[in-house]
Amino acid sequence: MSTVTTDSGITVTQLAGHIGAEIGNVDLAGPLSDAVINDIRQALLKWKVVFFRNQQIDHAQQVAFTSRFGEVTYAHPHEDEPIEGHPQILPIDRSRYERRNGLRRSSYESRWHTDVTAAVNPPAGSILRAVDVPSFGGDTQWANLVAAYEGLSAPLRALADTLKAEHRFAANTRIPAGSKLAKRFADNPLVAVHPVVRVHPETGERALFVNPGFTSHIVDVSPAESEKLLELFFEQVTKPAYTVRFHWNNGDIAFWDNRATAHLAPQDLDHIEVERVLYRTTITGDVPVGVDGFRSQLIEGEFFGNAVPTALQQARQVVADAQPA
Ligand SMILES: [Fe+2]
Repeated sequence: MSTVTTDSGITVTQLAGHIGAEIGNVDLAGPLSDAVINDIRQALLKWKVVFFRNQQIDHAQQVAFTSRFGEVTYAHPHEDEPIEGHPQILPIDRSRYERRNGLRRSSYESRWHTDVTAAVNPPAGSILRAVDVPSFGGDTQWANLVAAYEGLSAPLRALADTLKAEHRFAANTRIPAGSKLAKRFADNPLVAVHPVVRVHPETGERALFVNPGFTSHIVDVSPAESEKLLELFFEQVTKPAYTVRFHWNNGDIAFWDNRATAHLAPQDLDHIEVERVLYRTTITGDVPVGVDGFRSQLIEGEFFGNAVPTALQQARQVVADAQPA
């Protein structure tokens, strides 16, 4: 086993060839020194996703831990029923999805994706805490987008460096038209153009920043060319060689660098009646920058930070105005 003990005393154990490490000897409920936080950050930058086993923390402690790494965002651009008292917490809850959206699924996006890349500033990181998960199945997988980029041949890397792509909710959609979820996306459109290769703001590494969940097409090329290029890039970012797979137990926490990874929600539970409840927080991200200095462009919607999204505020106002005085 390849385990390193850092100067602050935490242990970092590599889990797969290209991505993933388990962090031990740390209690996220307790006060954490700046040295421990810095060592977690360094492990995250190196391994792209880090895991903490058997942590006993509540919503407020999750938000407090997340805030040590940056500003904590509002729960999600389309979350119109945030948890009372905890507007930053997004429930990842199968029965809640079914109740609210009429869809049985484990996450708002069931394909390989990077969180909220429809925003001009996708979250820098995501922290997911398992509270009520089945003992079998329900694994999540993550892929290292830097390794995926570096695994391309030099001529393809050079081509990818020059490309830009549009990202939007329900791209390549399997969400039924007319469903509540489709309406939620239509009422609050979020669209951005990102560089296909993103230069990581902290490590300087290049990541292949496209994903099947949100990337609709490559811009400035023909539709046929876009389709072929995305097929090639999607295959590259989802190659098993660049992934790690994690089985959850209650109390486990995953923390991923959303600037350098994609992930896949469980695929094996849709036919089973089983509860699965986790809670996510995200860290406000910067605007991606490409190899040539291109900065992502906002096409529709707004910057995604800690504020309640304008479209959700307006919808609430309409409801409030309709109430009798
Ligand atoms: Fe996700």
